[in-house]
Order: sequence, then structure tokens, then C-alpha cells
Amino acid sequence: MRTSLSATLRRLAAGGGILLAAVTVGSRLEAQEIRDQYHQAPRDTVSQAVYDGWKQFNLNCARCHGEDVLGTTIAPHLIVSLKPQGPINTKEAFLQVVCAGRPAKGMPAWCSLGMDPAIIEKIYAYVKARSDGKMSPGRPARKVQG
Ligand code: HEC
Repeated sequence: MRTSLSATLRRLAAGGGILLAAVTVGSRLEAQEIRDQYHQAPRDTVSQAVYDGWKQFNLNCARCHGEDVLGTTIAPHLIVSLKPQGPINTKEAFLQVVCAGRPAKGMPAWCSLGMDPAIIEKIYAYVKARSDGKMSPGRPARKVQG
């Protein structure tokens, strides 16, 4: 009787341990799923210039032209504008319109706002990669230099 009771207790304790382990694994999986959902792993590895362009686009342009360059109702869809048949199908046209803007139409003049033309070129590299279908939406990873 005494041995069988302690054996039962041991079984219960072992069972509890397994249950606890299962709960821990379960919540760890759940946390991973939440992380994947809200912070997706980067899908593209890009040069430092394109990465900087992605960052600057999000800081300065996304509020009107859409996150991931996906467009909004208030400004042109730049993925479309930069296509070969689009109105901004050269790097020069892009640099020109972004630098000078179209203030009367709601597009800020970025050079007079103090944006360095080198930054505009980096933004171009990012938007062009999105327009050419070479980059997925979301945060890219940086290529390790050297
Ligand atoms: C306050 C809103 C706003 C912000 C911020 C903004 N834009 Fe614009 N942008 C516009 C609007 C509106 C137009 C369309 C103007 C027109 O009707 O001709 C436009 C036009 C453009 C065009 C020409 C597109 C075409 O098809 O003719 C380019 C390129 C462009 N923006 C790039 C940028 C870049 C790059 C940034 C960030 C540095 C930026 N914009 C920030 C509102 C904005």
C-alpha cells in the first residue's frame, strides 16, 4: 500500500512535469508565431544604399505614397510611375521631381527642405527595386560589407 501510494505520487509528479513542459513549449510556439506575424523576418538582402533608401522612404515618403510603396489615394502609386511606360521612367526624372517637388499639387520640394541629393538617389534605388519587382514588401536585411 505504502509503495503503491508513493509510486502513484511519483507518476503524478512525472505527469505534472510533462504537462508543465507541454505548456511551456506551447507558449513558446505561440510567442514565436506572434513575433513572426508582427516582425517578419527580412525577405531581401540589399546593399547599404538600398537599405538607406528604404529607411528614408519610410521616414519621408510613405505617409503619402504608402508603406512599401504600395500607393495611397492621396499621391501617385510610385511602383506604377517608375514602370517603363510610367511618367517617371528615368532616374533623372525621379531626381528632378523629388528635388523640385510640385508644391502646388501637394508634393513637397525636398531639396529646399534640406534633403541631400545623395539621399534622393538612395530612395530612387529602393523605389526602383520595388517597381522592378526585385524586392518584397517589408524591412530588408543589409548585405554584410566587404
Ligand atoms: C505630403 C504628401 C507627400 C509626401 C510626403 C511625398 N509626396 Fe511625392 N507626391 C505627392 C503628390 C500629391 C504627388 C502628385 C503631384 C501631382 O499631382 O502632380 C506626388 C508626386 C510624386 C512623384 C511623381 C509621380 C508621378 O507619377 O508623376 C514622385 C516621383 C514622388 N512624388 C516621390 C516622392 C518621394 C521620393 C518622397 C519622399 C522623399 C515623396 N514623394 C513625398 C505627395 C507627397
